Amino acid sequence: MKRKHNKRLSSSSSLSFTNTILKTVKPAAYFTLLLLTYTLGYLSHHSDLDSFRVETQCVEPIPPENTRQTLIDLIFNGTSPFTDFPPPHAADKLYRSNKVKGWGSNNAVFENLIRKVKPEIIVEVGTFLGASALHMAELTQRLGLKTQIYCIDDFRGWAGFREQFKNIAILNGDVLLYYQFLQNVVTFNQTGSILPLPFSSEQALIKLCEWGVWADLVEIDASHEFLSVWADINRGFLIIRPGGVIFGHDYFFPGDNREVKRAVDLFAKIHHLKVKIDGEHWILI
Ligand SMILES: *[C@@H]1O[C@H](CO)[C@@H](O)[C@H](O)[C@H]1NC(C)=O
Ligand SMILES: *[C@@H]1O[C@H](CO)[C@@H](O)[C@H](O)[C@H]1NC(C)=O
Repeated sequence: MKRKHNKRLSSSSSLSFTNTILKTVKPAAYFTLLLLTYTLGYLSHHSDLDSFRVETQCVEPIPPENTRQTLIDLIFNGTSPFTDFPPPHAADKLYRSNKVKGWGSNNAVFENLIRKVKPEIIVEVGTFLGASALHMAELTQRLGLKTQIYCIDDFRGWAGFREQFKNIAILNGDVLLYYQFLQNVVTFNQTGSILPLPFSSEQALIKLCEWGVWADLVEIDASHEFLSVWADINRGFLIIRPGGVIFGHDYFFPGDNREVKRAVDLFAKIHHLKVKIDGEHWILI
């Protein structure tokens, strides 16, 4: 077929000349274009995103039942932060209430995921007063699970947060958010299942990775600023046990062009994961 076709075209010399040009230039041009397209596509879809890839490998996970004491030893010099709580200087500044303010802290996503994953360890990134941690603790106990919940928060709130939370005391400019969180855990009788990790999410997650403290569930609900969410997802993802799930709050948060969604979607794209929505929450699957 091909030979016959060529023969017919070469019957006229001008046609033959054009044909020769086309035959040499066109395939070459096509080839070049194709190569360029692939190269550009490769660069934009692979190398560019590869720059965002975090390659850290965490230390092999230690047994879940050893994690609480390990953290108490490494962070609190061996003494639970609930021992002899509250200290006298703070005791009368804390409120004791069965209502803890949170946002979406009782949403169905918690029960859905806890039923599905049956977590031994949950790491919550962004705890504030502990509303969702307390909710998760109750859920795990109702389901007969023995779950430890590690709550990462710097317990500083955010600049200006007292405009909404006037009932949280201040001592010499130090807002007693950490003590109030501890008090809430005490009030709800959850001191055996919840442990605070009172550091920035960056510092705490890096250490969990180095200490081999992995989680079955990691919840991201700290700062909603793009760069923070991005860093928290990347660091949180590293410590997920096989079969575990990372999820987070406020997928539809409107700030800065939906910054939570942008961070979640970018991470999902790089890791070939899907974003599932459960109410206000995102789940990576
Ligand atoms: C840390 O624990 C050790 C051993 O129990 C104790 O001797 C030491 O005083 C503690 N350090 C602080 C700062 O509490
Ligand atoms: C905590 O335990 C005390 C004493 O057993 C009980 O009276 C109280 O209702 C419990 N609080 C909560 C929130 O479950």
